Amino acid sequence: MVKAAVLGAAGGIGQPLSLLLKASPLIDELALYDVVNTPGVAADLSHIASPAVTTGYLPKDDGLQKTLEGCDIVVIPAGLPRKPGMTRDELFTKNAGIVAALITGVAKWCPKAYVLVISNPVNSTVPIAAEVLKAHNVFDARKLFGVTTLDVVRASTFTAELTGEKDPRKLTIPVVGGHSGDTIVPLLSLATPSVSIPDDKIEALIKRIQFGGDEVVKAKDGAGSATLSMAYAGYRFAEAVLKADKGETGIVEPSFVYLPGVPGGDEILKAVGGLEYFAVPIELGPGGVVKATNPLGKASDAEKKLLEVAIAGLKGNISKGVEFAQASSAKL
Ligand code: NAD
Ligand code: LMR
Repeated sequence: MVKAAVLGAAGGIGQPLSLLLKASPLIDELALYDVVNTPGVAADLSHIASPAVTTGYLPKDDGLQKTLEGCDIVVIPAGLPRKPGMTRDELFTKNAGIVAALITGVAKWCPKAYVLVISNPVNSTVPIAAEVLKAHNVFDARKLFGVTTLDVVRASTFTAELTGEKDPRKLTIPVVGGHSGDTIVPLLSLATPSVSIPDDKIEALIKRIQFGGDEVVKAKDGAGSATLSMAYAGYRFAEAVLKADKGETGIVEPSFVYLPGVPGGDEILKAVGGLEYFAVPIELGPGGVVKATNPLGKASDAEKKLLEVAIAGLKGNISKGVEFAQASSAKL
């Protein structure tokens, strides 16, 4: 029996992500939580002929507890999205508290679940989640993931547009660092199969991958940020975690993880100047991260310069999250 929960399930990401989870044969029970509209979303999804029994909860009547009890995997897209001109960091004021409160629920009611954090700014909300779980003595770094799969998906899509590859899924491009602007570092030199990008196009390609989120925010013109592509990416990552949990081997996906707590993390921590959180390709298995792999030494010289910029940016984002959680832990 696999029980999945979506927190923020009535939102722009939450609804299509819940649809994909409902359609998945990997899930037996799907619990949807939001501050609004989840009874309607759950009723609608429950008519789909798939195994997952679907329920919707609101905060009243212990809704968060009912959502999370017995959960194996929790996906969190709750919180505000950007409007044009905003950075992800500007979402911190509202979203930090939302994520801290929801993770407190995870710590109390499903401390052994896989936790997939989508809410921005991911570079800070994942450290917040880790600190809250640590404060409740239930932190297992192998099970906490900042979802950076959309960066990986964009890297394949935009690169395939340039190389003429008709199926972008055939391109695997490691994307490392964090999830905002120049903390996102695509390692195009390590693409498999290898790709040849003309010199006059590579800089623009890297920028497009790093700032792909802005492209959608601008096009939506005030109506939010990426939702459908994020639901696809979030489902892809959740499916990878669940398949690995069932024993499928060889599953590797990049994710933003707490390096000191995952196998292979210490070597990467040294390579990134002591940063405790970094997105790298991780091998998944039963129990979560089996090994964090270190592609950084093989990066090109130009990519190593991008990595330096990413590390400098991430430092502040991470400590902001840690400090917020430590200051508020007494209240959680
Ligand atoms: P949205 O506004 O459409 O939906 C967010 C939902 O969260 C709403 O339904 C809202 O009611 C709900 N919510 C707010 N407070 C809550 C709480 N305390 N408990 C439960 N639910 C709560 O926004 P969206 O477009 O779905 O984006 C959600 C988040 O995902 C944003 O922070 C956005 O920046 C982020 N995002 C991350 C990535 C990524 O790659 N990691 C990609 C896209 C968007
Ligand atoms: C994205 O990369 O699309 C998300 O982080 C949403 C955003 O704010 O751009």
